[in-house]
Amino acid sequence: MKFLDREKEKRELKAILSGEPDVVYFVYGPINSGKTALLMQIFEELPEDYRIFYINFRRVETRKYEDFVRAMFQPRDESFWEKFAKRVDLIKAALEYAEKLLEKVNFRFELPSRVIREFFKPGEKERDVFRYLEILMGELVKKEKKPVLVLDELQMLRDVKKNGYLLSDLFNFLIGMTKETHLCHCLCATSDCLFIEKIYSNARLEGRARYVLVDDLDRERAYKVYEELGIEDKELVWNYVGGKFGDILGVLSYKRRGYSEREAVEEMVRIEAGRLKHLKLFRLADTEMREEIWEVLKIFCEKEVCRGKEAEKVLKKGTFWIRENVLFYDPVRGEVRPQGRIIWKAIKREIREEEGNVASCA
Ligand SMILES: Nc1ncnc2c1ncn2[C@@H]1O[C@H](COP(=O)(O)OP(=O)(O)OP(=O)(O)O)[C@@H](O)[C@H]1O
Ligand SMILES: [Mg+2]
Repeated sequence: MKFLDREKEKRELKAILSGEPDVVYFVYGPINSGKTALLMQIFEELPEDYRIFYINFRRVETRKYEDFVRAMFQPRDESFWEKFAKRVDLIKAALEYAEKLLEKVNFRFELPSRVIREFFKPGEKERDVFRYLEILMGELVKKEKKPVLVLDELQMLRDVKKNGYLLSDLFNFLIGMTKETHLCHCLCATSDCLFIEKIYSNARLEGRARYVLVDDLDRERAYKVYEELGIEDKELVWNYVGGKFGDILGVLSYKRRGYSEREAVEEMVRIEAGRLKHLKLFRLADTEMREEIWEVLKIFCEKEVCRGKEAEKVLKKGTFWIRENVLFYDPVRGEVRPQGRIIWKAIKREIREEEGNVASCA
C-alpha cells in the first residue's frame, strides 16, 4: 500500500540522521501507530551513502545471547569467504568480507558461520559482537559512508543475559557509538510503554538518549488520510477509529469483505470489548485487587487523556492495563490514555453495560 502522510515525522527523523550522531534515539508510540512503516519509508528516502542496519527482534525468538547473535548476524556463502579468509586477522578479513556485501539497507549483518562462531567464545574481547560492530562502523565512516543502526522491538531483549543483562552491554555500546565516538546513528523502536518507562528512568541513559513519539494522527491529518483511502463517513470513522493507521487499514479490510463503514467500526469495537471482557473475567479473576484495577478504567469514561496526579493514580493501580496494551503510558509527557479510539469506545461500552446506566458514560 502507498505510504501516506508523516511528513512532519519524516522531516524530524531525517534531520536527526543528517547530523553527527550524538545521542541514542528511542522511537516510541502506541501500538499500530506506524513506527515500523515510518522507519522503512525513511530508509528508502535517505541518500545512497547511508548504510542502514535494521534488525527487528520480533521476527526471531530472542531468549538467549545465542538468539541475539543469530538475530543480528546471518551466516552466508562460505566459498566467497575463502578470498578473505587467507588474511591473518580473522576480524579484519570479516570486515572486508562484510563491506563487500553491504547494501544501503541491510536486515542483518552477513558473515560466514565460522566468524559468527567466534562471537560465542568466552573471554575473547576482540571477537566480541560489539567490538566487531564498532570496528565495522569505523571502517564505513572512513569510506565516507553514514552508518545507522536501527533496533526495532528492543523490548524483546529485556530478559536476555550474557554474564549480566545484555541490554546493559548494548546500551553501553550505543552510547559509545553516539556520544563518545560519533560513528553511527542509533535508533531503537518499541511499542512497549513500560519498557520505555524503564529506559526513561535508566540513570546510565540520562542525558544520552532522546525520545521521538510516533503517535496516531490528529483529526486534521486523519481526515486527509481518510480522503486518500476513499473513506466516506469521516466523522464516524474518526469517532470510532481515530488516527491509528493499523485500525484505519482494518476498516478498509472489512469494507473489502463487504461490510459498510458502520458495520466495520461496530465489529472492531465488538472485538475489543470482547477482549476487555476476557481480561476482566479470566485474567483479573484471581487477582486480589480486581475491583480496584477495574475501577481505574472508569476514569476514561469522562476523558481520553490523564495527566499529573490522575495519571499517577492510574499508574499506581492500572499497570495491568498498560501491560495488556489497553492503556498507553507516555513517560516523556507523563500522560496515560487508551491505546486507541477503538479500545476507548470499548472501555466506555463495557463500563456503561456494567453499570446499566446509559447516561453515566456516553
Ligand atoms: N504512513 C503510513 N501509510 C500507509 N500505511 C501505514 C503507514 N503507517 C503505518 N501503516 C500501516 O499500518 C499498519 C501498522 O503500522 P506499523 O506496523 O508500522 O505500526 P507499529 O507502530 O510499528 O506497530 P507495533 O506497535 O505493532 O510495532 C501496517 O499495516 C502499516 O503498513
Ligand atoms: Mg513496529
